[in-house]
Amino acid sequence: MHLTAVSLAFVAALSSALAVGPWRATTYDFDDSSGLGRQYDGIGGLSGGGATSKLLVNYPEKERNEILDYLFKPNFGASLQILKVEIGGDAQSTDGTEASHMHNSWDENYQRGYEWWLMVEAKKRNPNIKLYCLPWGFPGWVGQGSRNPYQVPEVTADYIIRWINGAKTVYGLTMDFVGIWNERPYNSTYIKTLRKMLDERGFSNVRIVAADGKWPNIVSDILADPSLASAVDYIGCHYPGTLSTDDALKTGKQLWASEDYSTYNDEVGGGCWARILNKNYAVGRMTATISWNLIASYYNPLPFFRDGLMTAVEPWSGNYNVDTPIWLSAHTTQFTQVGWKYLEHGAGVGLLEGGGSYVALVSPDKKDFTIIVETMSHNHSLCIRPPLPAYDVVPQTMNIQLKGSFANIKELNVWYSKLGFDGQQSIMFQKKDALQLKNGMGSASLGMDEVYTFTTVTTGDKGQYDAPPPSKSFPLPYSDNFDSYAISEEPYNLAPQTGSLEAVSSNSARGKIARQTVLQTPAYWCRTASDTINKSLTVIGNFNWSDIYVEVEALVGKVNATDGVFVAARVQNGGCQSYSAKGIFFFVFPAQQYYIISYDLARTQQISSGAVSSEVMDWNKISLLVTGTTIQGQVNGKSVFNIQAPKMTKNGFVAIGTDTYGLADFDNFMITTASDGRRIMRENEERAHAKAKHTLYFEPEKH
Ligand SMILES: *[C@@H]1O[C@H](CO)[C@@H](O)[C@H](O)[C@H]1NC(C)=O
Ligand SMILES: *[C@@H]1O[C@H](CO)[C@@H](O)[C@H](O)[C@H]1NC(C)=O
Ligand SMILES: *[C@@H]1O[C@H](CO)[C@@H](O)[C@H](O)[C@H]1NC(C)=O
Ligand SMILES: *[C@@H]1O[C@H](CO)[C@@H](O)[C@H](O)[C@H]1NC(C)=O
Ligand SMILES: *[C@@H]1O[C@H](CO)[C@@H](O)[C@H](O)[C@H]1NC(C)=O
Repeated sequence: MHLTAVSLAFVAALSSALAVGPWRATTYDFDDSSGLGRQYDGIGGLSGGGATSKLLVNYPEKERNEILDYLFKPNFGASLQILKVEIGGDAQSTDGTEASHMHNSWDENYQRGYEWWLMVEAKKRNPNIKLYCLPWGFPGWVGQGSRNPYQVPEVTADYIIRWINGAKTVYGLTMDFVGIWNERPYNSTYIKTLRKMLDERGFSNVRIVAADGKWPNIVSDILADPSLASAVDYIGCHYPGTLSTDDALKTGKQLWASEDYSTYNDEVGGGCWARILNKNYAVGRMTATISWNLIASYYNPLPFFRDGLMTAVEPWSGNYNVDTPIWLSAHTTQFTQVGWKYLEHGAGVGLLEGGGSYVALVSPDKKDFTIIVETMSHNHSLCIRPPLPAYDVVPQTMNIQLKGSFANIKELNVWYSKLGFDGQQSIMFQKKDALQLKNGMGSASLGMDEVYTFTTVTTGDKGQYDAPPPSKSFPLPYSDNFDSYAISEEPYNLAPQTGSLEAVSSNSARGKIARQTVLQTPAYWCRTASDTINKSLTVIGNFNWSDIYVEVEALVGKVNATDGVFVAARVQNGGCQSYSAKGIFFFVFPAQQYYIISYDLARTQQISSGAVSSEVMDWNKISLLVTGTTIQGQVNGKSVFNIQAPKMTKNGFVAIGTDTYGLADFDNFMITTASDGRRIMRENEERAHAKAKHTLYFEPEKH
């Protein structure tokens, strides 16, 4: 801080000590005459890590476009400057599995999943948005069957570069940044190999961010290894709590909070986001901040529910929420561009005397200038880490003194937000009267939990659509015959937690069907052995469902096939807990003519098992009805069991899946209420009975 500011602060402190009121008045200089700070790299959101945009894809077109506008459209809502996406790896990566472009070494496909679509939509709205891609898991073959994706660095680099090339050639999307392996070990040889192969294949403009973990290891390796230092362009740290390290600064690299936030998106979450957007630079000199996640578009209560900039979890109703982080992002994104520069610390960047922080940025031609101020009082452990002091923020007066290139600015546009706590309404992104400056000096009264933007930029705007349709529960009956999907598309609403589902052509009157395609244990991301369970699990519906009926037709073939398939109800777990998922699981092993019912996916708590008549190498309809503590199952309309399962979970998702990795086909999936289900099962029984009688009638007399 400049001497004048310090002495003014001192005077201000004195006057408040003399009981002039609760306000502390401090003057802060904004001055470029001794140079500028770091380049600003943007604010972004992360789709993936994993399956966080799953439910967004099949929103009604109108609402889907509105949501995309709130996220990406410049001068409308969050106006994001970076979109980071997962490179699907067929492995559970937090809220689901995202499909790989190469399930197998002999396979290559750029129609899977929804990240391509999302990137295209983002670019449509903002051609300047930066794209950043990163893998969480890898298909098993990439790690040569092990969990280590660096066994053969060239194979992994080739796998990643094919994805980057697919983005380019199939969708015209240019990646700006690529990462290594999300929050898992990096390997220096691999990073250098990736750099070299990117350059060789014409992707020298794709810059490397490493290592999407914590500071220490990558920083010390970069300091010790000049060839690693030249391969890495940006150092990306996760959840830095606004802190970087002296060594990180010593590398001379741009430092990023390449994943941050992960907080429930109410007022407290908004406060967290507003604070880190400023303090990641004011404290840690980080020049980009990326929210995990972009949009909370996964079923409640999969892990970290609503930890997105906004929420869209009801494609069937079209209902969505524009949450506080959207508008708190706008305070920075609508008044800056990637490539602007921060002012220097003490000359436009710093902490406020009364708590809170301020940053200022200037355009390359110095024509535009923006100050963002936040006074967040609420503490959240993910946003701030010790040893920072507690944030006791007090109302205060901020005197803004513009100097250098800014000295002649006469007024600044003002945008204002205040987070409402204790029953107060939040005020989000409101345009206020411009701040008048005399001799470069203006003054603002700052309350608590507020964000202000003071800017010469005039294009800011608060976008607004009519309220979306009202919220509704997942509709019943629900059915899907998979015929309406494009080939390779992941069926809507079915949310793979392990394994991967995609629409394929059946080459029969059935039209399209949904195929489980993962053949081999992936190089998984979850810390636990989640994916080594080697079963695929796809959940759907409403977690509060208790009494419910589900049926599906399934085919277990011969080539690269699984050994069995299941339907399930009251499934309690997804995400990295899929391994230990509890519920009621009805497995059928067609070739073995055998069934198992179990309280868990792992089949360690079996309820019953036995022989079942089923088609071998053909379709079987598998039905499950759960009411109270009673479970009933049918295969091809014939009763298999009707028993008590007193230890059953009380509620949960419906699910389908396979007993091992390996191909299985699904068709004519249907969920309905227990009362409908009871009727369907009874009619099936009657039909089976009538058929048996009919057969008997024409049999020759036995006696
Ligand atoms: C990186 O991977 C290579 C190839 O598998 C291996 O030889 C090397 O030991 C690994 N290096 C580190 C630091 O783990
Ligand atoms: C913030 O809250 C966390 C718990 O959520 C606590 O451990 C930490 O000490 C608090 N930090 C401050 C600065 O108050
Ligand atoms: C899953 O398969 C892998 C090999 O592909 C094996 O190493 C692992 O033990 C299996 N896990 C279980 C639980 O069977
Ligand atoms: C399930 O019920 C709880 C408690 O009533 C509610 O908070 C939650 O939102 C419900 N979940 C869904 C998916 O409707
Ligand atoms: C089955 O696996 C083999 C390799 O083991 C592969 O060559 C073949 O293409 C696969 N077939 C299908 C239908 O997945």
